[in-house]
Amino acid sequence: MREELLNMREEALHDIEKARDLKELNDIRIKYLGKKGKLTAILRGMANLRPEERPAIGKLANEIKEVIEEEFSKKSNELKEIVKNERLKREEIDVTIPSKVAIGHKHPLTLVLDEIKQIFLGLGYEIVEGPEIELDYYNFEALNIPKDHPARDMQDTFYITEDILLRTHTSPVQVRTMERRKPPIKVIVPGRVYRSDEVDATHSPVFHQVEGLLVGKNVTMADLKGTLITFAKMFYGEERKVRFRPSYFPFTEPSAEMDISCIACNGKGCRVCSYTGWLEILGCGMVHPNVLRNSGYDPEELTGFAFGMGLERIAMLKYGISDMRLFFENDLRFLEQF
Ligand code: DAH
Repeated sequence: MREELLNMREEALHDIEKARDLKELNDIRIKYLGKKGKLTAILRGMANLRPEERPAIGKLANEIKEVIEEEFSKKSNELKEIVKNERLKREEIDVTIPSKVAIGHKHPLTLVLDEIKQIFLGLGYEIVEGPEIELDYYNFEALNIPKDHPARDMQDTFYITEDILLRTHTSPVQVRTMERRKPPIKVIVPGRVYRSDEVDATHSPVFHQVEGLLVGKNVTMADLKGTLITFAKMFYGEERKVRFRPSYFPFTEPSAEMDISCIACNGKGCRVCSYTGWLEILGCGMVHPNVLRNSGYDPEELTGFAFGMGLERIAMLKYGISDMRLFFENDLRFLEQF
């Protein structure tokens, strides 16, 4: 039995020595030291030994087991080291290789907004923002749109409670700004707005607006026109013609819509302008006395004008984009053109 153990030891050490990878090594361990391994099999023969022989053989078996285990762990470390080195070699990074990291750039909506901001900053306006989750009061009530007003139908939105909703326009920031500040006020308000509209080429339940508000003493419709004509020419080009059409908004009186001569046909009439020669680009008007009153101002003493435009629409006209969904789909073939 002693002989058998010593032979097994030689055999095991030889096998360990020859193992080429961790899997093979592990199989060898099982072959010799596992529950059904050779050592266990030999030790089963102990029962046939004379009792005085047993301690010596037992001791030898333990020693052999230890030696095998030691060799096994040495070999295992060796193989692990080799695997590690191979991996390091494979993953070596040459920091001197010129990198081709694609650098992103601004989204077309951001480009357009930046340009609008730049123009109004140049005219002395400040940029302010307001909450997207808004009170019914600021979104409607304070803007002269009471609960039963038909104008609410056109601006159906997502309600959080009866009094809290996702704002349908940036106009609530008019009142919030007037409440907080003393006139004169000259601000533009960019921001995201929401309506429960179906998605199509010209509608999205989430879109962006830029609001404008100027309030002070002796502000008149002439100031409104001068400002917005200046903006239109700076943004769309000096050669653009501009016209104001009477319109209706509950929070302005009088109200108007501003058109520019069609960018595609220069006013001759084409598909882009539905053969009218004109493109509507924003709504505007003199701030309604009720809105001034709701904001704590005296309409006898102060007047103002306001305007609001849809950023997507402005960008679509500027770049000749025919489908609003392109702004939100993040298709690089579209975005890379800007
Ligand atoms: N809030 C209006 C809308 O979403 C746009 C608008 C029109 C804003 C006239 C104004 C304004 O400030 O004077 O349809």
